[in-house]
Amino acid sequence: MEILIVTSLAWIQAPMYKYSGSKLAATVSQQGALGCLGLEPVKRMEESIKYIKNITNNPFAVNLWIKPNLPQNISPEPITNKLKEYRKELGIELNPEPILYNFDIKDHLELVLKYKVPVVIFTYGIPDQNIIKKLKGNGTVLIGSATTVKECILLENAGLDAIIVQSAEAGGHRTSCILPEYGLIGLSTFLPLAKRSVKIPIIAAGGIVNANGIKAALQMGADGVSMGTLFLTAEECNTPKSHRKVIFESTAETGSICSRVFTGRPASAIPNRYYKEMVDICKTLPGGEESIPWEMPGRDIFGEAARKGNTDLYILWGGQSVGLLGGIPTRSAAEIIKGLEIEMK
Ligand SMILES: Cc1cc2nc3c(=O)[nH]c(=O)nc-3n(C[C@H](O)[C@H](O)[C@H](O)COP(=O)(O)O)c2cc1C
Repeated sequence: MEILIVTSLAWIQAPMYKYSGSKLAATVSQQGALGCLGLEPVKRMEESIKYIKNITNNPFAVNLWIKPNLPQNISPEPITNKLKEYRKELGIELNPEPILYNFDIKDHLELVLKYKVPVVIFTYGIPDQNIIKKLKGNGTVLIGSATTVKECILLENAGLDAIIVQSAEAGGHRTSCILPEYGLIGLSTFLPLAKRSVKIPIIAAGGIVNANGIKAALQMGADGVSMGTLFLTAEECNTPKSHRKVIFESTAETGSICSRVFTGRPASAIPNRYYKEMVDICKTLPGGEESIPWEMPGRDIFGEAARKGNTDLYILWGGQSVGLLGGIPTRSAAEIIKGLEIEMK
């Protein structure tokens, strides 16, 4: 299994965009699991790669996004008006945001080649054959992301080395490689179906926050696991303080929900005021949630809400197992991994 060849533990700290920066990835890799740097602008990513290489000689991964081909629907007026209200409440002007996907990963790929990055995790798409050939020829292990069996088969046929199967329990965006199509399948069904359908190694992602979760996934045939929500609680993760507090104070009743109202793309987070109000507006729209633009212009609102510690208007990212993290103390990523190793025995 490729992952076992590159790391001593078949555990991946899941890619989590701005949350999983170089400090988190370096600490995790230093502990023998696979730390993954979230997607960053190319200059920052170069600094991060140098930082990680400076901290550890162990393998690490970077996450690269393939620009998905999303429908370009316009925001319905009630949604735009609500976003205006939120901006007013937070005291910010409409801040025209750069389109999140408006970049070319050509420069990122040059970095991966130049620094011989050991592992790349691709999200939201399937890299083309030129990219696959170039990176593999340079010794990089390539992992794809899937939310359905159909996607697993497409990734295997394209020549990826392994697949992260993201189940319905997972926090964050649906990492489908054929967006706007995506799946929401529970791990105990998705994992055996994926194992039956493809030959390459399968890494389980979704709802795994402790040793029992890891053992269950391995028992069901996973070749490794990828954990996101658990690492949101790590000291080295860029999780805002107020968000962390919500996770630490979560109870058996706290869960996450998958919806397009957070960012326009299907994603799972803990429901809050923003979620509830947006869902209520969608109920009044003829197309319901389907009327939301796939790239909803609300990131300035979430950024300001995070700065103000306002958890009503911030996206409280997390998966369905967030309730299992209530009451745990703040720990470093190294302590989290050591804790898992002890629990696994
Ligand atoms: C805050 C957050 C941000 C995420 N960002 C990304 C991302 O940029 N790329 C990606 O492939 N997956 C992303 N994900 C999904 C994770 O890689 C992973 O599939 C998920 O966290 C696994 O489920 P869990 O949260 O229950 O452990 C994100 C997840 C979270 C919680």
